[in-house]
Amino acid sequence: MSSLPNQFHALVIGASGTIGAAFVDLLSSSPRCASVRGLHRHSTPCLDFTDENSIAQAAQALGSDRYHLIINAAGVLHSDAFMPEKRLADLTYMQMQATFQANTFGPAMVMRHFVALLDSERAIMAMLSAKVGSIGDNRLGGWYSYRASKAALNMMVKTAAIEVARSQKNSVLVALHPGTVSSRLSQPFRGETIGRPARDAAIDMLDVIDALMPADSGSFRSYNGSELPW
Ligand SMILES: NC(=O)c1ccc[n+]([C@@H]2O[C@H](COP(=O)([O-])OP(=O)(O)OC[C@H]3O[C@@H](n4cnc5c(N)ncnc54)[C@H](OP(=O)(O)O)[C@@H]3O)[C@@H](O)[C@H]2O)c1
Repeated sequence: MSSLPNQFHALVIGASGTIGAAFVDLLSSSPRCASVRGLHRHSTPCLDFTDENSIAQAAQALGSDRYHLIINAAGVLHSDAFMPEKRLADLTYMQMQATFQANTFGPAMVMRHFVALLDSERAIMAMLSAKVGSIGDNRLGGWYSYRASKAALNMMVKTAAIEVARSQKNSVLVALHPGTVSSRLSQPFRGETIGRPARDAAIDMLDVIDALMPADSGSFRSYNGSELPW
């Protein structure tokens, strides 16, 4: 992370997840990183996307801190109550609401409350999105709620980037696709077979983040740095 100031401060939201934990581990072992803070549903303060107040309260608890890097690695594809939809007939309000809450509404509120905590010298806020949220790249169909929630997240990031650029000229907001990673989220879909270790994905994404400049704010990037179609 040579583009960040020496002794930079980092915050990872969704730090209890597979990719979130890999980010925390990597950043903790970087000599240039002065501190890395991880937040999740059971941290202090806790941050739960089903509880709007917890997002504001977590930001308030960290209020005087400034971060050069904030990564949101929380998200949902399936739960005990649902699996990704295969067809229109599978759609329910329950699944759409739960998926949008975790993948769109929560991250949007993170932007609302945590953008003020970005360091004015140089800072990047990365929201983990997904290539399947690309409308232009959708060839297979299915996974309605997940696809739509990530497409909506991408719009939130793009829109916030335009606003934030007016007042925080050195901040970069980006939607980032980690690639297929072996994790709890991908496990029911052969994630262990077709996915990469989370550490490898996090190394690649930190390289991409490191290279981002303010002119790149509002973009949708893959783990290899390429721009993805909306
Ligand atoms: N793995 C992949 O192949 C892949 C591919 C493309 C995109 N992504 C994206 O990458 C991100 C990380 O995924 P992962 O593979 O690391 O999944 P994971 O291991 O299942 O971790 C998911 C994280 O999201 C948190 N979370 C879920 N619901 C939440 C809520 N309501 N409020 C707050 N936190 C919540 C989980 O918290 P708990 O520990 O409390 O459950 C956990 O920290 C997600 O946004 C995912 O969409 C992953």
